[in-house]
Amino acid sequence: MSTRALRLHDLEPTISAFRADVIEGLSRPQKTLPCKYLYDDAGSHLFERICELPEYYPTRTEMALLASAADEIAACLGPRVRLVEFGSGAGVKVRLLLAALADPAAYVPVDISRGHLVAAALALAKDFPRLRVQPLCADYTRPFALPPAPPGAAATAGFFPGSTIGNFAPDEAAAFLGGAARLLGPGATMVVGVDTPKDPAILEAAYDDAAGVTAAFNANLLVRVNRELGADFDLDAFAHRALWNAEESRVEMHLVSRARQSVRIGDRRFDFLPGETIHTENSHKFAPDAFAALARRAGYAPKALWTDARGWFSIHALTVE
Ligand code: AVI
Repeated sequence: MSTRALRLHDLEPTISAFRADVIEGLSRPQKTLPCKYLYDDAGSHLFERICELPEYYPTRTEMALLASAADEIAACLGPRVRLVEFGSGAGVKVRLLLAALADPAAYVPVDISRGHLVAAALALAKDFPRLRVQPLCADYTRPFALPPAPPGAAATAGFFPGSTIGNFAPDEAAAFLGGAARLLGPGATMVVGVDTPKDPAILEAAYDDAAGVTAAFNANLLVRVNRELGADFDLDAFAHRALWNAEESRVEMHLVSRARQSVRIGDRRFDFLPGETIHTENSHKFAPDAFAALARRAGYAPKALWTDARGWFSIHALTVE
């Protein structure tokens, strides 16, 4: 069986945008680095390993939920749908949905990590030989255009699994959802996987695993800044920390400076006190009602909701108004 050739639509962000974001983040009183930069090729591979860790419950919980609800979600989306996945990664979860969809018109995986995107799209096109796969390399938090819909597509739908929505600040989450609504168009369905609040011990272990994979994922951000921007971060001088912030309903990841130190990035110098942190990621957890309220503010009407028996994870179907 032959595989249709893939055409990559490449809107990968530039190195100067990366530098500007890093300088700006490290210049704030609470130093920060945008979590979207965790996903270079090495970071994407580390994240795949995180998804298999015993402590990291979200992936397996969402996978089981997707498997059990796939037919109902497919019915929600209807036949001949063009499915756009925001931050497609390895494209594992979407396979459950694609297999359940009636005669899908196209699959558009959108991801910031070009190498990973192409490899995943090729593997998926091989396993779904009749499906049109249109990989799009882009920062999906910024406006972008979709490739033309294939003739015969009945509707366009969005898919945003993995609770990646939790990695945005609440106003950014609303802005992303609003942008997705404009991209997909009125009447479209958006399917979003959302992690829920639970016992802090379970949450903190999920982000600080015994094998140290999440620590390596976090530190890889500094590896990347060193490699791509010529910085001189000493990796041994920063420790990984994950903590549950109940007030903000989020797990935070930080890199903690073990000593007083200075780091150079080109002609810029950044000073660190012992214990000072770089805040690298937030992972917000939303109860179903809280997420429905956020979605309404962003221009959606809640359409359907699936949760697992323990209520550890939720999948929301939303209609663009
Ligand atoms: C991609 N995102 C949903 C993950 C999360 O759970 O917030 C990223 C992650 N960070 C550390 N572990 C996993």
